[in-house]
Amino acid sequence: MRGKVRDFDVNKLGKILNKTYPWVFLALAGLFLHGLLKAPSCTEGLMPCAQLLNVVMGLIAVQGLYMIRPWLKVREKILSLAVELKILDRIPRFKRNMSLEEAAQGVIVTLSKLQEDARATTEAMLALQQSQTDLMESLPEPVMVLDPELHILRANNSARELFPDLLVSKNLITILRDPQLLETCQRSIASGQEDDIEVHLSVPVERTFQARVKPIQHRGFTLQERKSALLLSLNDITTIKRTEQMRADFVANVSHEMRTPLASVLGFVETLQGPASNDAAAQKNFLKIIETQAKSMSRLVEDLLSLSRIEMREHHQPEDAVEIEPVLNNIAVMLQMQIKQKNMTLQIKTDENLPQVQGDADELFQVISNLVTNAIRYGRPGTPVIVEAGQTTDIPPQFPLSQEKVVFVSVSDRGMGISAQHIPRLTERFYRVDKARSREVGGTGLGLAIVKHILNRHRGCLVVESQENVGSKFTIYLPIYN
Ligand SMILES: Nc1ncnc2c1ncn2[C@@H]1O[C@H](COP(=O)(O)OP(=O)(O)O)[C@@H](O)[C@H]1O
Ligand SMILES: [Mg+2]
Repeated sequence: MRGKVRDFDVNKLGKILNKTYPWVFLALAGLFLHGLLKAPSCTEGLMPCAQLLNVVMGLIAVQGLYMIRPWLKVREKILSLAVELKILDRIPRFKRNMSLEEAAQGVIVTLSKLQEDARATTEAMLALQQSQTDLMESLPEPVMVLDPELHILRANNSARELFPDLLVSKNLITILRDPQLLETCQRSIASGQEDDIEVHLSVPVERTFQARVKPIQHRGFTLQERKSALLLSLNDITTIKRTEQMRADFVANVSHEMRTPLASVLGFVETLQGPASNDAAAQKNFLKIIETQAKSMSRLVEDLLSLSRIEMREHHQPEDAVEIEPVLNNIAVMLQMQIKQKNMTLQIKTDENLPQVQGDADELFQVISNLVTNAIRYGRPGTPVIVEAGQTTDIPPQFPLSQEKVVFVSVSDRGMGISAQHIPRLTERFYRVDKARSREVGGTGLGLAIVKHILNRHRGCLVVESQENVGSKFTIYLPIYN
């Protein structure tokens, strides 16, 4: 098309012609009148008029040619734009016999279709973004999207809860000042590889997280826009870590508890076989020690087995109706020798019409006998151990069931007592206030741990009150049998 029509200012020509036409018509009219009046015949008179008309027609044709030029330019522009936007197939074909109006209408229809398409695409984009947001929000673990400079682009609700100071567009360092995590993020961006690292948070409570970083393509605000980013997710592994630590501590503790009596047994066996092989008095003495140590190991094994048995059933609440009084009487019979040996007395006081409790008689026997044994062990010789049982409406807050009345059993001694800082830890396995003293009196350090687990199973609880050098009172609370 280009070059076919000479470059010319069409408007200028149009203007000149428009100004000329009235004069041409005046001239035509003059010539016409002149011809009519002067010419010998009417036909002859009209000749100059016809010639002028010819000229005028020619001028109009030239003007017409120049007038369609801008439309040709518009068409050319539309087609090249359509090629550029890859929508050529959507532009209506310009036909030779098409009127300008039809062509313009075609273009307008196409434009409005394209506008509709653009709106639909924007809506689809927004829906996609919304579903991405919903997906992120539904994740229980804190998740953030970071740009390569570690600015926060997006964060879900869990992340905002974990870091109340979190602000989108701020750098990760403003909420998590962990050099190793930052290093891991940078390494992951550089390598394009997923990576993870443990992160410790100390406020508001001590917690450990497994931070996982994954390079991703983050969608921007248009379909085409995709930027390199990093997905950071934090998985709370505090419980796993704690359990891992507890397991390791437990194995270390058991080994340690076993090693001491075992070493002593082996040592005395060696002495009996060697230097003391002919010493009857020493043999008797050493055999006694070996017996004591073997019994201590046996108690430890018994307690460990008992603990693991209870733990396995801990989520099943026992359902029997148990009378407390016979249990207390059996304990008194079982422990009378130990009471006598320490010159102590065991006083049992029970309420009349004590209701039955919901539980397992053997396990409740184990709980109360552990408490009475402790009272005998850690109470002063010659003092009484008092066991009281009754019902009360004064229920401690840690009691797990909502009941109006519960049964309590308390064991009080007059002994060394326990200082306040030890009380919360007494039910931990192998926790002892005085290790040497506990071992000396035959303790395993597992008695109160067993008590705690049995009470958990019974949906009951334990309350410890103690005053140093005065004495202690261990009270258990149990649900009444309905
Ligand atoms: N009646 C009590 N008086 C003083 N200290 C006690 C009493 N009962 C328990 N303790 C302390 O609690 C620790 C843990 O008790 P327990 O779990 O029964 O283990 P142990 O086998 O050592 O008795 C004991 O080592 C002791 O230090
Ligand atoms: Mg004990």
